[in-house]
Amino acid sequence: MAIDYQERIPNNVDLAENRTLQRALEHWQPHFLDWWRELGPSDFLDADIYLRTATSVDAKGWASYGTVKMPDYRWGIFLADAIPDRRIGFGDEYGKPVWQQVPGEHRSTLRRLIVTQGDTEPASVEQQRLLGHSCPSLYDLRNLFQVNVEEGRHLWAMVYLLHAYFGRDGREEAEELLARHSGDRNKPRILGTFNEPISDWLSFFMFTYFTDRDGKFQLKSLAESSFDPLSRSCNFMLTEEAHHMFVGETGIGRVIRRTLEVMKELGTEDPAAIRAKGAIDLPTMQRYLNFWFSSSLDLFGAENSSNAASYFATGIKGRPDEANYPDHICRDGSFHLEMPDGKGGVAAEDVPMRNAMNEVTRTAYIRDCEIGVKRWSRLIAKAGYAQELKLPSERFRRSIGVWASQPIDPEGCLIPTAEYQAKLAGWLPSENDRSFIKSLMHRVTEPGKMAAWIAPPERGINNLPVEYEYVHLH
Ligand SMILES: [Fe+2]
Ligand SMILES: [Fe+2]
Repeated sequence: MAIDYQERIPNNVDLAENRTLQRALEHWQPHFLDWWRELGPSDFLDADIYLRTATSVDAKGWASYGTVKMPDYRWGIFLADAIPDRRIGFGDEYGKPVWQQVPGEHRSTLRRLIVTQGDTEPASVEQQRLLGHSCPSLYDLRNLFQVNVEEGRHLWAMVYLLHAYFGRDGREEAEELLARHSGDRNKPRILGTFNEPISDWLSFFMFTYFTDRDGKFQLKSLAESSFDPLSRSCNFMLTEEAHHMFVGETGIGRVIRRTLEVMKELGTEDPAAIRAKGAIDLPTMQRYLNFWFSSSLDLFGAENSSNAASYFATGIKGRPDEANYPDHICRDGSFHLEMPDGKGGVAAEDVPMRNAMNEVTRTAYIRDCEIGVKRWSRLIAKAGYAQELKLPSERFRRSIGVWASQPIDPEGCLIPTAEYQAKLAGWLPSENDRSFIKSLMHRVTEPGKMAAWIAPPERGINNLPVEYEYVHLH
């Protein structure tokens, strides 16, 4: 079904048929636009940008491309098509019809999950709002803005659910989603990672690779939900989300390619020499990777979680790709969970399977993260170097769960606390790293040109050449 862009709020949810809801959302819309002008990408309101906009929810040809100014982007409400006679796919209610309305007993839990997901969307736009000033190319600038407008649309997706299904509380929560701000002392965003500043493009690529990928797994879990409108919202968000991770994976890949060129040219692996040439040495990239990966792991929650168990039991939130698991009830199974024994060693405990659902999801996420990391390492190996990029252990630098605050090195070994404290700074971006990276961040806006620290992409957007003027600045 094509979406009617004559409507004030483009949608495929028959908004015109529900005047009360339509009016409520039309009331929220100017607040959203004010927020976008104030806390969205700074100083690019006037630029003409080659963006994609969703025009249908068909997997094939769901988007159209054209030049728009960001404030004129048509943020809309799009749900993936309903699956006829869809049934609950897991938990105690397995096999019963899915819910088209929110069951009273699950109202506050569902609302909290939707608010938490919704909060991350505008948070990332806020975190990235200054990046446009230091873009390495117009191609990258356009990708940044594409990610930003789609995160804005993901906020719309969650706000629609709050307005349509949660009455007055939902409307209040929708306002609050615009009132909390990333990094704000008094009203921060809900989750830690979304309050970390993203002030350089290396962090942006790491964020889109690791943290947007957390988003992908959260959305996959929510796409399994028995609350069908949530499931359909998340399914369509996943379609858009793929590009965000593409930006991260190819972005990091291009930084590595450029570094390898410089290493070849200079005939050295010496970080200082590489830096002097204006490229980013691999150990610095590893430290950024360590930071963003470990920070993103915490977003999945504790390994042993009674909340996770009850989300699963009640059918509110499933495992990503639930259909691939043999047992959808998991009433009897157990999960072998390792944890520190408090004496410098590792103990293990069998916890009920349902309690371990966060860990199951985190494990699937880590496997997905590994794919790109292996690809990057292959680039390095093919160039003839022994260095590699690696995911640190999932136990390293955790703030949540059984490994929180444990003295663990990137290999996953418990080490003496004093040694850990002495070494931790060396495993993460230092002040020196950050100021070096910052020194590289100069805006490049000539079509087709790239900053010296990043290789050009292999191809442009939507079959256009890399040299295309993806953003026209006035
Ligand atoms: Fe998103
Ligand atoms: Fe995203």
